[in-house]
Amino acid sequence: MHVIEAAQAGGPDVLQYLERPAPDPGPGQVLVRTEAIGVNFIDTYHRSGVYPMDFPLVPGQEGAGVVTAIGEGVTQVAEGDRVAWASSLTGSYAEQVLVDAAVALPVPDALDTPTAAALALQGMTAQMLVDGVVALEPGQTVLVTAGAGGVGLLLTQLAVAAGARVITTVSTAEKEELSRGAGAWAVIRYTELDDLTTELPARVRELTHGVGVDVAYDGVGKDTFDASLASVRTRGMLVLFGGASGQVPPFDLQRLNRAGSLFVTRPTLAHYIADPEELRFRAGSVFAAARTGALAVRIGARYPLADAAEAHRALEGRTTTGKVLLIP
Ligand SMILES: NC(=O)c1ccc[n+]([C@@H]2O[C@H](COP(=O)([O-])OP(=O)(O)OC[C@H]3O[C@@H](n4cnc5c(N)ncnc54)[C@H](OP(=O)(O)O)[C@@H]3O)[C@@H](O)[C@H]2O)c1
Repeated sequence: MHVIEAAQAGGPDVLQYLERPAPDPGPGQVLVRTEAIGVNFIDTYHRSGVYPMDFPLVPGQEGAGVVTAIGEGVTQVAEGDRVAWASSLTGSYAEQVLVDAAVALPVPDALDTPTAAALALQGMTAQMLVDGVVALEPGQTVLVTAGAGGVGLLLTQLAVAAGARVITTVSTAEKEELSRGAGAWAVIRYTELDDLTTELPARVRELTHGVGVDVAYDGVGKDTFDASLASVRTRGMLVLFGGASGQVPPFDLQRLNRAGSLFVTRPTLAHYIADPEELRFRAGSVFAAARTGALAVRIGARYPLADAAEAHRALEGRTTTGKVLLIP
């Protein structure tokens, strides 16, 4: 079978399309023939060395496909079933992937396989952000960075569905249109601001009559963290959920009292789906929302598996919108 493998950490060029023997499922595992593989920003952290990993590395934590073999003791799924996954293990950039049966999510009949792959990780992340990390309430106002990104489009829709007013940031006119389509109440083109750190919070406060947002969801990290913090109302919450622009440097906790007795959290999906019941609840919730049309899933780009490096270049180059998939 073909896989994408990196021999060492580095830029997108380290991602090589290679032949490797197909694995056999061990106890509790299933072997899946992948039909669509999700590309997520975390894959770029793994590849580049931002997060220390063992190499050689087959990146990827997400995908969907058909079960072709089951290991000893597996009863939850059978050969021929369609499943999706968003596990914290890597190895999904491959034509065949071993998945723990405990985290293999049955794909509902009404959902096509690429949509299931597109939703598993970013969908459950968006779901955890509005109904886990915080429980959004009707009438609240939130800020979402990178509103036209994979998480951003889903998070905006789920926050709107929870009754919140959503202010997003985006870099281009095309992304602004997509973000408004997802339900954003106001969109700020942060790349047009001369001084992001002062002008972004000023715009947010203009929009909120000087109060600030109840929750700032920041997945951009280094470049936006200070602006997001300054956009939050007294006793509000900053949810730092990623670092697309780089990691946020060490932080003086005294800043939280000066800024208004704020809360900051740095959640990771793995901790919000570790419990099997919670995993099924979050997956079931986003799959159901997609099936009924309550949640629109935008697949912005599909690349052949062999072109994974190109997909990483596009994601890191800010040219993608919505979900990026690799198709074996
Ligand atoms: N905590 C968790 O469990 C969890 C789970 C999933 C994802 N995440 C995080 O959520 C964030 C979004 O992930 P995603 O996969 O949905 O990616 P994405 O939002 O589709 O892509 C990243 C976006 O970030 C924006 N951005 C701003 N500055 C950037 C820079 N210097 N370089 C690259 N992008 C920049 C770009 O949008 P604009 O052009 O509009 O600025 C870009 O399109 C990432 O930080 C990721 O790590 C966290």
